[in-house]
Amino acid sequence: MALDEPRGDLARFGETCQSCHMPQAPEPQARACQQNPQGSRAGNLGIHEFAGANAWMPGVLSNLYGSALGPNRQQAFAQAASAATAMLQRSASVQLTLSPLAAAPGTLQASVRVTNLAGHKLPSGYSEGRRMWLELEARGAGGQVFWRSNAYDATTGALAIDRDDAVYEVKQGIWNAAAPVPSCETEDAQGRPMFHFARNDCIAKDNRIPPRGFRGGADLELRPLPIGRYPETAPGSGVLAHWDDRAYAIPVPAGTPLPVTVQARLRHQVATREYLEFLRNQAVERAIPSENLMCADDRAPLATGPRTQTRGQFAYDQWVASGRSPPVTLADVQRSSTPAR
Ligand code: HEC
Repeated sequence: MALDEPRGDLARFGETCQSCHMPQAPEPQARACQQNPQGSRAGNLGIHEFAGANAWMPGVLSNLYGSALGPNRQQAFAQAASAATAMLQRSASVQLTLSPLAAAPGTLQASVRVTNLAGHKLPSGYSEGRRMWLELEARGAGGQVFWRSNAYDATTGALAIDRDDAVYEVKQGIWNAAAPVPSCETEDAQGRPMFHFARNDCIAKDNRIPPRGFRGGADLELRPLPIGRYPETAPGSGVLAHWDDRAYAIPVPAGTPLPVTVQARLRHQVATREYLEFLRNQAVERAIPSENLMCADDRAPLATGPRTQTRGQFAYDQWVASGRSPPVTLADVQRSSTPAR
């Protein structure tokens, strides 16, 4: 999608950069300061909102500074969070199809297609600690859940990953040329994920869904990893699919009352537990002082937070206090099994 694509193409592609990042003002009386020669632009005015995916941080900032800055600022933080949520929710669609299931025990085949409707990879932007994933759940007719995939626990922030291929993210790492098999390392010696933004020099995983018309499949810095992760839309076209198809074989235990209902949710989280734990552990284990010592001449005291804590610990505590960066659900679909097709 080109940056300057005319709004007329909305009908063809669904969205443009502007329709998501500069949505039309809801107020019919909205006007640009400078009117065009034809007269008023009332009711047709893109707001310079430029929301990203971060629906979590505005709430943290509001908690920390909101009352000091006054009600207007608190309202602005809330508005920023809802703009991010609204935009995320129009950025992808999910389709779910199930095979027939005649009896239990048996195996139910579920196929899920996730389509990227944004103008860039999804997720996008500042990628560290950010991820999107498919979370599935299967229930018997009585409502009891008997199977889960990539289940998220909101009380701990832990994502139980059984399908890494349905966790959409880029994992950058540090190249270890000295290893017996040289590789892009993303975990430390204790197996903990690393997020060394400035030191990273390689890409270990990038299964973020390409945008419509994406041609970067041969580009070392842009290509999806593993190589070939997204097929060409037509052989030889060089254009990669802007959707992802995942298949699940769901074991249905004996005695499960039919029909079985499967729920598929696409979820997005801007700050994962692994990321916040890493920031905290780095600060604590390296005993990074809680005062600003970045510049020897500029030992400015920190403006916020207790001096007794490193910033990593403080950030972690804010993450816990604000619901652990609650995931935003981009799409939520359900289907029930049929006895035969
Ligand atoms: C369907 C809605 C949609 C469309 C269309 C869209 N975007 Fe986005 N954009 C998003 C969402 C949602 C995010 C946040 C995704 C994420 O970072 O995980 C985002 C993130 C971004 C970011 C990063 C912002 C940040 O906080 O890091 C930039 C820059 C951006 N988009 C530019 C563009 C451009 C340029 C286009 C057109 C080529 C475009 N967008 C089209 C929804 C859209």
